[in-house]
This record gives sequence, C-alpha cells and structure tokens, in this order.
Amino acid sequence: MRLRVIRGKNFKEEFIVDADKSISHRCAIFSLLSDGVNEIKNFLRAEDTLNSLKIAKSLGAEIEDKNSTILIKAPDSLKEADDVLYCGNSGTTIRIYMGLLASKEGFFVLTGDKYLRRRPMARVANPLRSIGARIDGRDNGNLAPIAIRGGKLKAFKYYSSIASAQVKSSMILAALHADGKSYYEEPFLSRDHTERMLRGMGAEINSTIEDGKCKVEIAPLKNKLKPLVFEVPNDPSSAFFFAVAAAITGSEAIIKNVTLNPTRIEAYKVLENMGAKVEFIEKENKYEPIGDIIVTGDTLKGIKVDKNIPWLIDEIPALAIAMAVADGKSVVKNAKELRVKESDRIKAVVENLRLCGIEAREFEDGFEIIGGEPKFARVDSFGDHRIAMSFAVLGIIKGIEIDDVECINTSFPNFFKLFNKIAEYEVMDAN
Ligand code: S3P
Repeated sequence: MRLRVIRGKNFKEEFIVDADKSISHRCAIFSLLSDGVNEIKNFLRAEDTLNSLKIAKSLGAEIEDKNSTILIKAPDSLKEADDVLYCGNSGTTIRIYMGLLASKEGFFVLTGDKYLRRRPMARVANPLRSIGARIDGRDNGNLAPIAIRGGKLKAFKYYSSIASAQVKSSMILAALHADGKSYYEEPFLSRDHTERMLRGMGAEINSTIEDGKCKVEIAPLKNKLKPLVFEVPNDPSSAFFFAVAAAITGSEAIIKNVTLNPTRIEAYKVLENMGAKVEFIEKENKYEPIGDIIVTGDTLKGIKVDKNIPWLIDEIPALAIAMAVADGKSVVKNAKELRVKESDRIKAVVENLRLCGIEAREFEDGFEIIGGEPKFARVDSFGDHRIAMSFAVLGIIKGIEIDDVECINTSFPNFFKLFNKIAEYEVMDAN
C-alpha cells in the first residue's frame, strides 16, 4: 500500500487516538499470572497487541471479546502450545514472553515477521540463560525463531547495560518465578508500566532511583495475582504525530485521555523547548496518571536532544520531522538503540529527509538535521510504522508519497481516520 499526502490543513481538533500499545501488551501477558477474570477495557486492537492476546490463548487462556471489554481468564497452569507462537512485528511480545515462558514447564517456540527476525534477542536470552533458562535460536540464540525449554530459575542480581523496558519486564517475570528474591538494575529508568501494573495486581516489587540508576527488588510469587480490572489509557506516542503536525503548522491538537506517565511524555517537553505551547491536564490516576495534552504550534527552533533518551526513544522519528522544519540545526545523540528498532531508524530518518531536500547526517548514535523547506518526494517506510506515520506528517507541508504503509496497522489502526482531520490524502495499491 502506498500513501500519497496531497496537502495539509490548519486545524484545531480533538484527537482520541488508539489505546496504549505497551500497556495493552502487558494486560494480555500479565493476565496469565492472575486468578479470576481480567476485565480489560479499551484494549488496543492492533496487529502487535492482538498477537500478544492470541499467544495468551494458545497458552490456555479463555478469552471473551465483548467489544468494549475483553475478558481474560488464565488457565490453572500454562499449557504447552501445540504450535509456534507468532509475535508478528512486536519486540515487546517476544521479549516479555521469553521471560515468562523460561520459567514454565514445557517447550515453546517464538517467532515473528522478517523485521522481528532480524532484531537482537541476546539482551534477554543471555540474562535468562545465566539463571538457568534453556533458550536457543539462530545466531547462537540471538535471533528468532527462539526455542525455550522452560523450567526452574535461580534468583538473581542482574545489572543491565541498557535501559530497556522490554529487558526489565522479561527479567521481572522470570524473577516472579525464581527460587528467591531477585535484584535488577538499569542505568536509567525505562518505562515502568510493568512494575506499576504488577504491583497493582499484588506482586511484591520495590523500585528505587539512586544516582539516576533504577533498582528493582522482586519477590517470587507465593500465590496467583489479583486480576486486572482496567481501562487502558490512550497512547501518547501515537498522539505525538498529531502534536508534531500542530507544532509545524501553527495549529492546535487537543489530545484526549493518554497516559501521562513521566517515562512516556518527554518528547512533548522537547517540542515545548523547540517553541510549541504544550499543556498537560491530569484527570485521573489508575496505575498511571492519565489526562489530556494540548499542543499549539508556533515558530520552532532547532534543539539538541541527548538526555532522557529512553523516555522519548519511540517519538524520535516524529521529532525529526519537527527538526526538519525548525529554524537552525538540531542534533540527537546517545540514541544508538534506534538502530535496533522495527527498522534502523537513524538510517531511515536521514535517508528519507535527504530525499525530501532536508540536510541531514548520520552519527552512530543519532543524527544532525538542518531545518529547511521540504520538497515533494517519494520515500520508503522501511516496513516501520513510526517511520511511515512521521513522514506522512512531513507530507502536510509540500506533499509526499510513502511506500509500504501497511505497517501502520501494527500499532495504530485508526491513524488514517484521524489523519483525515489534518490532511488530504489517498491510499493506493503498491506500484
Ligand atoms: C517498549 C519498550 C521500548 C519501546 C518499545 C515498547 C515496551 O523498547 O521502544 O516500543 O513496551 O516495553 P526497549 O525496551 O527496547 O527500550
């Protein structure tokens, strides 16, 4: 599928984006640890999160879809699925399930699409192996398909060299089934939905921040957890495409009911420092602060982004679009993780911006962009939903064509419905 954006509009619009992806994955996976019926409202019905849910079903969960609510009842003990577990495009699905399944009796194989099969799994497989898990895969156990022979795990002290919520979550699930208290440390706090949700379900998990490092202490489960009864907030990283659109066109985006978890809204603060007006309105708190964000565009100036990177890593491609039209130079550093996301996002951003006539240069851990006037071009999504949606937003200035935009369905099935509020566009068959 190819997207042609013809022109954008000035707008003042409300955006009710799709549900949060990270939290929806966790609802599907953590339900398996509970006793009773989990009631999940506003579960994200995108390819990635539906894959997490299907895997829960293959492992024995009973799932009833009541439209606005999904009911999930865990089996007494997880069953050995009779086929390969398919994670699609989703790193969160494969890595978090690896931590859970490593401790469960049985044989499990996890795999995904051609993009996921290129992404590194050693960051989870190695620490899990060090506590007794039997895990193998291509490239010495680094690449999917990943085969797991689950069993008993030892309690651990693990110091991660990367701030990754996927690695942390995987190890926390392993720790819940280990033979004693475990300790996990990361160099900087990564998104903390796992700790908040599991604590809410009754798990004994204590987190502290010392010298910027995040330390988590996890006690093994004595009993099953309480079920989740929860309405998933909307996704601030999906909404951020409309925040950038408002910022670059002098428009106003009123973004409704997103998580305001501080590990998730840092990109909005960068946009504010570039010159946009940003207002956060907290309305409630259930596991997470939840509320609205209002973004109003103004003249944007270039910026250096090299701190708090784990809190805005997913929004960097969209921030690059704001940087491309801002006055002056912008720089992103300390963001090497971008190279191992759904695509190599450093390469994808720089190549596409250049095609659009914007000066940009790669670093190993980021890029530099000189703001300018974009021109019409045909670019590639690299099979990556966030690259596709970011460049769609750039297209509202002078038009754009983007190849291979099906990937948007992995995270944001309602994107086009909302994009309609800010742009004229056509979606065509490939070629
Ligand atoms: C996620 C964690 C982040 C993020 C990804 C979702 C999660 O990845 O980029 O989109 O839900 O835990 P890392 O854990 O690799 O940093």
